[in-house]
Amino acid sequence: MRKTTQVSVLHLIRLVIFVFTVSLLVPSDANGQNPDPSIEFQIAGKTVNVFKLSALKSKLEPRRIELYDIEYKKMKRYEGFALGDVLRLGFGDKLKSPEYTDVAFVALDGYNAVALLSKVSEPGGYIVYADLESDKWEPVGSQGIDPGPFYLVWTGKDQTPVNEFPWPWQIASINLMRFQDQYPLVFPKGAATGSAAYKGYELFKGRCVRCHSMNGQGGKIGPDLNAPKSIVEYRSDYMIKEFIKHPSQYRYTHMPDHPDLTESSLDDLLAYFRYMKKIRK
Ligand code: HEC
Repeated sequence: MRKTTQVSVLHLIRLVIFVFTVSLLVPSDANGQNPDPSIEFQIAGKTVNVFKLSALKSKLEPRRIELYDIEYKKMKRYEGFALGDVLRLGFGDKLKSPEYTDVAFVALDGYNAVALLSKVSEPGGYIVYADLESDKWEPVGSQGIDPGPFYLVWTGKDQTPVNEFPWPWQIASINLMRFQDQYPLVFPKGAATGSAAYKGYELFKGRCVRCHSMNGQGGKIGPDLNAPKSIVEYRSDYMIKEFIKHPSQYRYTHMPDHPDLTESSLDDLLAYFRYMKKIRK
């Protein structure tokens, strides 16, 4: 009996030493964060490049920026790279190919922020990797999320999600694509480019899909607007438009007001919802 006890104590000591040694081998800095995280570049779902932070630093010019961060709701200072530099490094000439119109920023948890390539190519975007105000990332939002390893921020006053500039955090990969390849069930198949339904789709893609899905594809923050029933089947046109313009007058909600949407843009959205009702999955 006594002997077995001694053996298991010995085992325990060995185990502790082993675990300690392994923990020294796994790369992590004082905060338990990976000091050299990587970012993946995909074109239409296929990986074309993977760069570690150390590699990015050797190829691109790191910049220090200060901006009003809409997520923290205060001024913040960061170190990062200009988004344009990152995209050119990751995608090269493919960035100029008319085949690809959209960019998705995919987070570690699978959250997918889609934006028009033409939007995110505007100057003002930075992929930041260090919070210059603290030795690790300051937690953000009501859930206290750690926005690292890579977080996309914008310096322009109007470069906000309402204006179709995404602010995704925990970015793991950047995907150059055509929206309808990635989200075929959101696409109004058969609608003529320039028709009201198509224009409504373009608005939906730019401003709504990060929170709402159609036929199960898209954001998960708001309800699906087409399945199992289309919004036009249970709300009046008047009420839908009213709600989209200023949801804050009806509810305490995460949905932002859209005071800039004109009557004709709202009609385009309705035309899109009606069109999608016919191709419900
Ligand atoms: C930041 C996330 C977010 C964005 C962006 C967003 N919504 Fe919403 N939306 C919501 C949430 C959450 C709800 C759920 C109901 C609520 O909170 O009031 C909702 C509800 C709705 C409803 C249903 C209201 C009802 O009858 O209950 C409609 C219609 C709608 N959104 C349309 C849109 C359209 C169109 C856009 C783009 C112009 C948009 N939303 C952008 C989050 C969002």
